[in-house]
Amino acid sequence: MSSYIIEGGRKLEGEVTVSGSKNASLPIIAASILNKGTTKLYDIPNIQDTRITLEILKYLGCKVKKSHGKIEINSKNVTKKEIPEHLMSQMRSTVVLAGAILGRFKEARFSYPGGCDIGARPIDLHLSAFKKLGINIIEDSGFITCKCDKIVGANIDLDFPSVGATENIILASVYAEGVTTITNAAMEPEIVDLAKCLNKMGAKIEGAGTNIIKITGANKLKDINYTVMQDRIEAGTLLCAGAITGGNIILNYKTPEHITPILNKLEESGCKIKIEKDKVYLQAPKKLKAVDIKTMPYPGFPTDMQSVFASTLTLAKGTSMIIENIFENRYRYAAELKKMGAKITIEGKTAVIKGVRKLSGAKVKSTDLRGGACLVLAGLVARGTTTVTNIEYILRGYEKLDEKLTNLGAKIYIDEEN
Ligand code: EPZ
Repeated sequence: MSSYIIEGGRKLEGEVTVSGSKNASLPIIAASILNKGTTKLYDIPNIQDTRITLEILKYLGCKVKKSHGKIEINSKNVTKKEIPEHLMSQMRSTVVLAGAILGRFKEARFSYPGGCDIGARPIDLHLSAFKKLGINIIEDSGFITCKCDKIVGANIDLDFPSVGATENIILASVYAEGVTTITNAAMEPEIVDLAKCLNKMGAKIEGAGTNIIKITGANKLKDINYTVMQDRIEAGTLLCAGAITGGNIILNYKTPEHITPILNKLEESGCKIKIEKDKVYLQAPKKLKAVDIKTMPYPGFPTDMQSVFASTLTLAKGTSMIIENIFENRYRYAAELKKMGAKITIEGKTAVIKGVRKLSGAKVKSTDLRGGACLVLAGLVARGTTTVTNIEYILRGYEKLDEKLTNLGAKIYIDEEN
């Protein structure tokens, strides 16, 4: 396992460009299975999660060509309908591949996705939606087999606005007979990006970005080029890196409307934010002010920013309160932050963070993707050296994070040995 070695105490200053969105790329790569031709995708981030997803596509029979930020996927000869267990278990979000395989072949076989470290993350909403679309589901010894003669459009009301379930229903319904309506749909920007990409291929999806999405079955999709949106969680993470170090950064980022709750909380904590065309400017105060945060489905404060904001608040003046409403186990980073001197107590869904004067460098362990990112930010401001281990979690979701932070003035490098 590799580690980041970070020398703390340096302000971040300068300009940085946000990469393509991990959480838009994964369903959009899956969507390329629905087009029996060639889909060209741009700005897909080169991270572990996209590499695994492309490996699965190759296993299924897709031809994948990568060159300078472009990924060309030819899905003409997809023959397999089963997602290999050893790849399925590595990443939960491969479950959206099931929706795409089902949408094209009306059958799919996959194992239960790897339960992530942030909670049980069942797929009951996905499976009950598939059943409503007329798909028979057999679950046996950890494997799920889905099959039907035809997928028939249906009205599906989600008990919870699940991002993955919304994406899976869209992917499975693209070629359905008739109309599928999702109510209480997730409204995340990544779903809008998926719908825009599919509509460009010739699908008929209306209402993405609202809580009611309508998919009218299409007959055929066509070859397209598509550029994925930028990553709103990476954007928030880089802004918080500027905030925690008392820095002054310029983000090359085209969709600040995707991160309104993050910008509001940064302003509330004392940062000066300015938005110009395609750029977000952050000027941090000498000392941040404590703020309270509640994670909610979009457009609320995103759960993926909860840990990153928690570390940003460890040195704030006053006491901050965080309530995590989406996942049941997303505070595993707290014990690691405490090793650095943070005062954070967890009571069920609530974290209470009392601002301290300083953090001290320590050897700390990434517990999951965003938990790891939070420890990197703490390391940027801690006195002395911080070693963040198990960074494979972080490399799943952040492209060249060490390079980006170094270009902003941080002292951080990867130690392969540690
Ligand atoms: C997506 O995960 C994102 N991942 C997550 O980002 C993000 O945190 C999450 O949406 C919420 O915004 C990708 O897009 C690849 P959900 P997903 O289905 O689809 C429960 C990151 O760090 N639930 O909206 O798995 C579930 O247990 C990752 O980039 C069910 O109970 O999230 C969770 O408590 C982490 N049954 C809640 O809903 C189901 O069938 C939200 O899950 C499905 C979900």
